[in-house]
Amino acid sequence: MARLLINGGNRLNGVIKVQGAKNSMLPILAATVLCKGENVIHNCPDLADVSSTIRILRYLGCCVRREGDTLIINADKMDRDDIPDTLMREMRSSITFLGAVLARTGRVRLTFPGGCELGPRPIDLHLKALRKMGAQIDERHGVLDCTAPDGLSGAKISLSFPSVGATENVILAAVLAHGTTVITNAAREPEICDLSDFLNACGAKIYGCGDGVIVIDGVDELSCTSHSVIPDRIVATTYMSAVAASGGKLLLKNIIPSHLNGIVPIFEESGCEISFLGSDLSLNVPKRIHSVKLIRTMPYPGFPTDAQAPVMAMLAVADGTSVFVENIFESRYKHVGELIRLGASIKVEGRVAVVEGVRHLSGAPVMAMDLRGAAALVVAGLAAEGTTEISGLRHIERGYEDIEICLAQIGACIKKV
Ligand code: EPZ
Repeated sequence: MARLLINGGNRLNGVIKVQGAKNSMLPILAATVLCKGENVIHNCPDLADVSSTIRILRYLGCCVRREGDTLIINADKMDRDDIPDTLMREMRSSITFLGAVLARTGRVRLTFPGGCELGPRPIDLHLKALRKMGAQIDERHGVLDCTAPDGLSGAKISLSFPSVGATENVILAAVLAHGTTVITNAAREPEICDLSDFLNACGAKIYGCGDGVIVIDGVDELSCTSHSVIPDRIVATTYMSAVAASGGKLLLKNIIPSHLNGIVPIFEESGCEISFLGSDLSLNVPKRIHSVKLIRTMPYPGFPTDAQAPVMAMLAVADGTSVFVENIFESRYKHVGELIRLGASIKVEGRVAVVEGVRHLSGAPVMAMDLRGAAALVVAGLAAEGTTEISGLRHIERGYEDIEICLAQIGACIKKV
């Protein structure tokens, strides 16, 4: 089984180009089933979750080919409306095929999705919204049999929580529906805007993304386009955390500064200097970072839950005590036990984690339990003295392209074995 070996303690210094956003790519790939012709999607990282999505598209009968970091998808010959359980379980975002395939064929049969174990991850908001749009959904033994006998119709959807996945599913179901759909309390994440930009370029009429109220006027058909996926703000934050924990300087290329508004104040509070020039971010780390009083994960534009683990690893070596409150997922502290093995001092009580910064971490064998937890172990391993061996790499491969190559190029001693 592959592992990452890190000899920590090096200062990091250099340039990293940030990959395309996984959480943008996956719904955009699902959206291609709604389009006629050949979509060309640029800035597509080579990730396990992207490969899983491609397997679903191919199973459905779509043609997909990769040319470097570009994916070319043609769904004209799609001839299936079911997705096997094995494919659904590979990742959470397989659920976006629910809205997409239902809108395309008027029927879809699939099972509950897999993905990182972060506590209960229900899809009740997705199902309630689609039912309101005219879907008949039969749920039995984990199988969802959905039909839209009279087609899907526009509806007023008010989400009780701004769920990213539910917002995406409603958008996908609404673009070809009869009439107008209005989503209130919609998720405002940049990945939602990226999905809408892609669909609008194909002829959809989606307004208000990023504002919390999204209006979608259904159209008769969608054509195709060429689209470049936005940069991954969580990957950017992970590399920033790595450099902040180890000391040094980082120039990140290919970022969208406003997407980092929720995390920049945290790095500044820790004593890091950040400046932007166009799509570049430069990070300058003090001799030792300070603790950060309180970090509360929130829906966008707040501090993202996906950045909680890597930033916690960084603050494990800060001067002073930092407090985290995880508000999005019930069980997103699985990395804590492993960080403690590396010498971190962290106490968890329900949704709160108290991190007392220590001067030194020391290398140890650790196991990744989920994607961002795995990233946290990399951040901590780079800062730790001695050798850290990380197993459970399949988690990191779901969301980080060539992480060991990117980090080695800024001076880390890291290799995959
Ligand atoms: C997306 O998950 C991301 N995944 C997650 O990233 C991210 O952590 C999350 O949004 C929050 O930002 C993808 O985009 C593929 P939600 P999603 O629906 O859509 C509750 C990563 O590391 N909820 O916004 O599953 C839910 O239980 C991953 O890249 C319901 O109660 O997130 C959770 O507590 C992990 N009922 C909260 O809402 C529902 O029907 C947020 O979930 C749906 C959600």
